Amino acid sequence: MVMENVVDKIRQLKEEKNAMIMAHYYQTSDIQDIADYVGDSLALAQQAAKTDADIIVLCGVHFMGETAKILCPNKKVLIPDVNAGCSLADSCPADEFAKFVESHPDHTVISYVNTSAAVKAYTDVVVTSSNAKQIVESFPPEEKIIFGPDHNLGNYLNSITGRNMLLWDGACHVHSKFSVEKIIQLKEIYPQAKVLAHPECKGAVLKIADFVGSTAAILKFAKKDESKEFIVATESGILHKMQQACPQKVFIPAPPEDSTCACNECNFMRLNTMEKLYQCLLNETPEIHVDKEIAEKAVKPIQRMLEISAKLGL
Ligand code: 13P
Ligand code: SF4
Repeated sequence: MVMENVVDKIRQLKEEKNAMIMAHYYQTSDIQDIADYVGDSLALAQQAAKTDADIIVLCGVHFMGETAKILCPNKKVLIPDVNAGCSLADSCPADEFAKFVESHPDHTVISYVNTSAAVKAYTDVVVTSSNAKQIVESFPPEEKIIFGPDHNLGNYLNSITGRNMLLWDGACHVHSKFSVEKIIQLKEIYPQAKVLAHPECKGAVLKIADFVGSTAAILKFAKKDESKEFIVATESGILHKMQQACPQKVFIPAPPEDSTCACNECNFMRLNTMEKLYQCLLNETPEIHVDKEIAEKAVKPIQRMLEISAKLGL
């Protein structure tokens, strides 16, 4: 009953304020269901760039809100919980990354979108897991490249593109916890299941996966593949959309290696709740702000990513 009220109140405020609610696949099911748009990091940036809403409520983590704000400096960008950070973005402090970049002046800098605006300001082109391979391959094979911050994704990209990019040693605390052993245990119970993994997982996990891709790509694969069972090695929020899209199929979340929990959840993503979403729309706070000088630099590599993606039809 209480939840029904919150749902109604959010819908009403959204109309009154011409607000658009955007949610990442790792949000709770109720937030995904009330959102105007649910997508991966690339799709959220693309939607932010073209929305005519006055307010964007980004139900995701801070770097996603920053990306939306950088693309829409004149819009109000809100996030239900301002503490929704990202361990991967935190593994790359801007001052240290700047030193790394400065010590390799002949290198092009490619940064994963899971970075602070300040790191993006030192970047030539931003990528997400939906377009990273194609963007890396858009550079000549001899191009010297720095890739940061995700070490697992960087290694994976090096392996599939034959490049030798210099990697920053960062990781996501959720994806680096998937283990081959736990996935093999699940395979014993579900021998027909295909393993789907996000490229932020460790190399050993990616090696045993039947499909590696971004959240959007994993969802797309599950929809079109004829298999009936899938073991999913990414944050378990994605299972909501998978199950909605394919009610006849069975989706099994891969568990983290060091716990008895069946699912692997991102504690940052899960800070956002329906109640906080309602309060955030009502009070128009917490708002995302990005320093003007940093935003002017950071917008260039983000725009470059959107342009390349558009050309490639991504
Ligand atoms: P996607 O770009 O696949 O949505 O991934 C975002 C993310 O934070 C992965 O942990
Ligand atoms: Fe960051 Fe990992 Fe959470 Fe994604 S799942 S937001 S990379 S901490």
